[in-house]
Amino acid sequence: MLELKDVRKTYDGKTEVTALDGVTLAIRAGEMVAIMGPSGSGKSTLLNLMGGLDVPTSGSVVVDGRDLATESEESRSLFRRSHVSYIFQAYHLMPTLTAAQNVALPLHIAGRSRGDIEERVSRALAEVGLAPRAQHLPDALSGGERQRVAIARALVTDAPILLADEPTGNLDTARGREVLELLRSIHHQRGTTIAIVTHDPQAAGFCERIVRVRDGRVQGDERT
Ligand SMILES: Nc1ncnc2c1ncn2[C@@H]1O[C@H](COP(=O)(O)OP(=O)(O)O)[C@@H](O)[C@H]1O
Ligand SMILES: [Mg+2]
Repeated sequence: MLELKDVRKTYDGKTEVTALDGVTLAIRAGEMVAIMGPSGSGKSTLLNLMGGLDVPTSGSVVVDGRDLATESEESRSLFRRSHVSYIFQAYHLMPTLTAAQNVALPLHIAGRSRGDIEERVSRALAEVGLAPRAQHLPDALSGGERQRVAIARALVTDAPILLADEPTGNLDTARGREVLELLRSIHHQRGTTIAIVTHDPQAAGFCERIVRVRDGRVQGDERT
């Protein structure tokens, strides 16, 4: 489903930075994979390429049979809308919108009908255990609750791929565990392909496979 071949990514600046230095990696449909490695090893870059947010300097990124490296920004953006959802360490919720309105955003962008949006939003909020918080603003929610709203927002579009960049990075162990349990249950119930970039030692225990990245290369790849 997701295949990276000899992917290199360099960032131009005063000095050129090689973020990825020849990564070859295949993730099958329905896998739940942890991507671990020290800070600066290229994990976020890797995730952004998998989701078509960015393109490699060389190499190919084939997702669902399409080589995103060769596609235009516009076509990648359309692809992302239907295929990929993201969760970030800092939640990235809109502060002026309620939990329900935040979850509804990707559906508005996709042009869904009002009835469809209402139904999907309440289902997604119920799935993450936050139906009673639907009308709250992010400020009135705890960190763990905010991340669960972000997960609900990632669920509403039924995207087959979910990419999470340090989703437990701002949470204590117990709240982090709830988020990981939720991701695993989504993976089991919906068969969603999930890649989690993480430093969290407990995250590895929730994934079937651990890919270790160091200095822009895959250093290890094990099944748990
Ligand atoms: N937009 C960017 N411009 C320049 N350098 C970048 C950019 N994004 C990442 N880098 C550099 O690429 C390397 C890998 O970064 P990143 O993928 O964010 O690593 P990680 O997520 O593992 O911490 C780092 O040296 C980082 O400084
Ligand atoms: Mg990162």
